[in-house]
Amino acid sequence: MNMKISSLSPIGIFDSGIGGLMIAKEMKIQMPNEDFIYFGDTKNMPYGEKSKEFIIKSSMKIASFLYKKKCKALVIACNSIASNALDVIQKKFQKKMLIFNVIDPVVKNTIFLSYKKIGIIATPATIHSNFYTKKIKKYYRHLDIIQMSTPLLAPIIENGWKIKKINPIIKNYLNHLKSIDAILLACTHYLFLKQEIKNFYHGKVHLIDIQKIVVQEIKRKLIEKKLLCFHPIYNRFPIFYTSSSIPILFERKVRILFGKKVFLKHIFLILSHLCIYYS
Ligand code: DGL
Repeated sequence: MNMKISSLSPIGIFDSGIGGLMIAKEMKIQMPNEDFIYFGDTKNMPYGEKSKEFIIKSSMKIASFLYKKKCKALVIACNSIASNALDVIQKKFQKKMLIFNVIDPVVKNTIFLSYKKIGIIATPATIHSNFYTKKIKKYYRHLDIIQMSTPLLAPIIENGWKIKKINPIIKNYLNHLKSIDAILLACTHYLFLKQEIKNFYHGKVHLIDIQKIVVQEIKRKLIEKKLLCFHPIYNRFPIFYTSSSIPILFERKVRILFGKKVFLKHIFLILSHLCIYYS
């Protein structure tokens, strides 16, 4: 592990856009003293429609950027990235900082012992990778898994569509996913729709609490590695970078979830040599 990092170092967290903010929010709840740097690749969103090669290339760029910011840990708060680029990111960075993702803690969770049949909804990039089914089956062979690609959801959430307009789309998708015990929202953007999805199932299908499971694991590991920050760091506010000029909805969500004391910055990340221009 990088000798320069300590419990006071920030945690880097990234996604294609606003989805990862829901993981960052849970981190603030469970680990209030942590300092963090968020990156939303808003210029390239949606990742769910991109090729594996593209996802690897751009997520490696973001991981390098966050590593240069001296992060003690990196949280891949995007299922599309984790399911397509995790091994490449781990190979390059796991000796330099702790690497977390939103899939591994979930697929190992014993909660699956209480289900027979689960549904997974995710972006096309995540579904095509087959990452979830492979991993869950490794631990819980008894489980019947139905996975469904829901390509419209992430872009319309990122674009701030009103719930009234999103609800019929949710219904259309979930009508194909009815006789299940639990549902896994395998895209961090969908965490903004938890209530609507719960309403659709009228409490008959359990919604797996990804945010809690993922952040509990991050906290556990930070404690184990003596990297959890136990005291508040004064005058340090979270920084949120976006790769396109800060989208209005991104800023609004950041302010709702994290308050006024935050920095928002637009940054251009230029491929291979990581030239960085601020605006
Ligand atoms: N939030 C991302 C995920 O968890 C993907 C959204 C997208 O860019 O398509 O998969």
